[in-house]
Amino acid sequence: MPIKITDLNYVYSKGTPFQKAALKNVNLEIADGEFWGVIGHTGSGKSTLFSHLNALTRIQSGKIEIDEFTLIGNGGKKPKRKHRPDYKALRARVGMVFQYPEYQLFAETVADDVAFGAKNIGVKGDELNERVKSAIEMVGLDYNEVSSRSPFDLSGGQKRRVALAGVLAMHPKILVLDEPTAGLDPRGKREILDLITKIKETLCPTVIMISHNMDEVARYCDKIAVMAGGELKLVSTPAELFSQTELLRDLHIEMPGVTALACELNSLGLNVSRSVLTEAQLVEEILRAKGVTE
Ligand SMILES: Nc1ncnc2c1ncn2[C@@H]1O[C@H](COP(=O)(O)OP(=O)(O)O)[C@@H](O)[C@H]1O
Ligand SMILES: [Mg+2]
Repeated sequence: MPIKITDLNYVYSKGTPFQKAALKNVNLEIADGEFWGVIGHTGSGKSTLFSHLNALTRIQSGKIEIDEFTLIGNGGKKPKRKHRPDYKALRARVGMVFQYPEYQLFAETVADDVAFGAKNIGVKGDELNERVKSAIEMVGLDYNEVSSRSPFDLSGGQKRRVALAGVLAMHPKILVLDEPTAGLDPRGKREILDLITKIKETLCPTVIMISHNMDEVARYCDKIAVMAGGELKLVSTPAELFSQTELLRDLHIEMPGVTALACELNSLGLNVSRSVLTEAQLVEEILRAKGVTE
C-alpha cells in the first residue's frame, strides 16, 4: 500500500484559546495508480490532511506510511530521530501543488522558478536543465518562448502552469493538488484537468485532487473521499456516492450537474439511470430510454 494513514489527529494552536481540532482520527489507504478526489466544505480539514504527506505539516499523533517512508507523531514535538525520514527524498516523492500556487512564484525567470525545487533536492547540471525543459513543455508552454521571461509577465493561467512545472521537475510519483482549478474560467479548468490526466498517465501515477467542484471529481476521479468537521466521513466511487440522494443530503454535498439532470428526467418519467456522471453517459441513457439504441 503506497499511502497508509493510521489514526491521524491534528490540533492547531494547542493549549491556547484558539485551539482547533482540525483532524480527528483519520484512517485512509490509497493504492498506487489511483486518482482520488477529496471533497468537503471549507474548514473540514482537507488541506491539513494532505499537507502531512510531504511533512509540510508536522505529524502530531498517528502514523503515515508512504512507500518506504514512515512518519510517526511525537505529540507535536520534533519526531524522534529514528522516526525522521529523509525529508528531501519524501518531498521528491510527493509533489504538492498548493491553492493558487502562482502567488508563490518568485524567481527572475521562469526557468529559475521551475528549477528551484529540483535543485533543492540535489538535481544539477544537464539533468537539471533537461528536467526544467521537459517540465515546462509538459505543462503546455513553449520553453524557448517563456524560459527566460519573468514569471510575473505571464497570464494567470500560464503562471499556474509554471508553478505546476516546478513540482513536476522534482519527478514526484504522487501528486497532491489543492483546488487546482480554483479561480479559472471553464476553459481554463478543462485545460488544467486534461493536463493533470496527461501527467497521471506519463509521470505521476497517483494523483490526489482536493476540489469543490462535483462535476470535476465525478468525471476524473476513481475514488472520492468526503471530509467533514475534521473527520473522513466516507470513501466511495463517484458512481456509488452520487447515486445516494439521501446520503448526499445528509452530508450537504451537491450532485454533479449532469447527475442532477438525469435524476430530474427520471422523476419526470424518462427511464434513465440516476447515476450518470458525464454528458456522454446521459446522452447514451436518453437514447436507450427512447428506444433509439439498445
Ligand atoms: N494555521 C492555522 N491555524 C489555526 N487554525 C487553522 C490553521 N489552518 C487551518 N486551521 C483550521 O483548521 C481547520 C481545517 O482547516 P483546513 O485544513 O484548511 O480545511 P480545508 O482545507 O478543508 O478548508 C479549519 O477550522 C481551519 O480554520
Ligand atoms: Mg483547503
